[in-house]
Amino acid sequence: MIDIKNYENLAKTYKTPLYIYDFDKIKNNYLDLKEAFKARKSLICYAVKANSNLNILKLLADLGSGFDCVSFNEVKKALISGASRYKIIFSGVGKTDDEIENALKEDILMLNIESFEELLNVEKIAKSLNLKARISVRVNPNINPKTHPYISTGLKENKFGVSINEARKIYIYAKKSDFLESIGIHFHIGSQLSDVTPILESATLVSSLMRELKALEIDIKFFDIGGGIGIKYDDEKTINLYEYAQGVLKALDGQDCTIVCEPGRSIVANAGEMLVKVLYKKENDGKNFLIVDGAMNDLLRPSLYNAFHNIVSLKNSQDLVNFDIVGPICESGDFLGKDRYLPNLDKGDLLVVKDAGAYGFSMSSNYNSRLKPAEVALINSEVKLIRKRQSFEDLIKDERV
Ligand code: LLP
Repeated sequence: MIDIKNYENLAKTYKTPLYIYDFDKIKNNYLDLKEAFKARKSLICYAVKANSNLNILKLLADLGSGFDCVSFNEVKKALISGASRYKIIFSGVGKTDDEIENALKEDILMLNIESFEELLNVEKIAKSLNLKARISVRVNPNINPKTHPYISTGLKENKFGVSINEARKIYIYAKKSDFLESIGIHFHIGSQLSDVTPILESATLVSSLMRELKALEIDIKFFDIGGGIGIKYDDEKTINLYEYAQGVLKALDGQDCTIVCEPGRSIVANAGEMLVKVLYKKENDGKNFLIVDGAMNDLLRPSLYNAFHNIVSLKNSQDLVNFDIVGPICESGDFLGKDRYLPNLDKGDLLVVKDAGAYGFSMSSNYNSRLKPAEVALINSEVKLIRKRQSFEDLIKDERV
């Protein structure tokens, strides 16, 4: 992404571990997806959970992006980044009463309903505010997305959405209510998908429900196909965006609506890297470890999903050593990569953990009372600090003694 000298300068200036984002890449990822859907009215709603730095949200809002939010705080972050309220969707199985009330007052595009009980709650709150809640229903199509079980969401054993039959009931109930207006239909079957087939099967199923609803005079305007487009961390197959968009159009079979897509990872993952520094090298009976200053609290994906992130050295050498790259946290699960062949690095050498822009910082924590890393962005060949490193004072400021 940037040249070696710059990595060294960045480490000197901002210290490590450090997240580095390339804003041109984020912009291009967004525009490529928008382009794939150009034949139709489309709205890309970036999934804020993937990376919610305000500067990234602002970059996307300025490009015209909408936002898929999973808490009211994400809605607030999208709004203060300049997003249009009519491009904000609020999803999630467990919205609290306060969150629903605030979202309705903010007049965002729609709330994604995930159960009948939630529908009744939204209706009650809308009634108390004397307004009409615009809703969408998340359909769980019970289709296997063929991804890691922790990020699979479209099977009936997953907590997300409702069955086709339940969705139909929800729409019929909503039609009779003075406080509900159904404008969308939604599915999201999982993340890091490398095969377009299960997405298109789901689209076909959900599209036929949409057609059925039309016959009942329930006119759905937004067909929301969720996110889930996978990226290449290693040697995965990836989804061809053109094939994806064409497949969705085919599933719609001429029905008039705006296609909504909620990508997170495919917008930011490959635009981000985490820079770490070697603290120690050690050998345990033939097993080699590089202990670096970045850990599972900074990037949880390897520990949580056994996810692969390419890790590259800035040094060139033909003599490679097999290392596990581990962090300082007191858990054996604290690793960034296992069995990687790298030059025989020493204390102070830098390593770049690739494709860390999505679900990296946003899943970071203060475990072991470690401070959250800084984030910088490359914007028009300039480096800008977009989040300062946490301080010890930040760490304890909410504690009351
Ligand atoms: N829409 C909904 C309703 C979602 O639940 C998600 C992600 C997205 C959109 C965006 O999906 P994406 O395009 O990023 O695949 N922490 C995990 C990923 C969890 C995804 C949760 N939902 C990871 O690091 O792989």
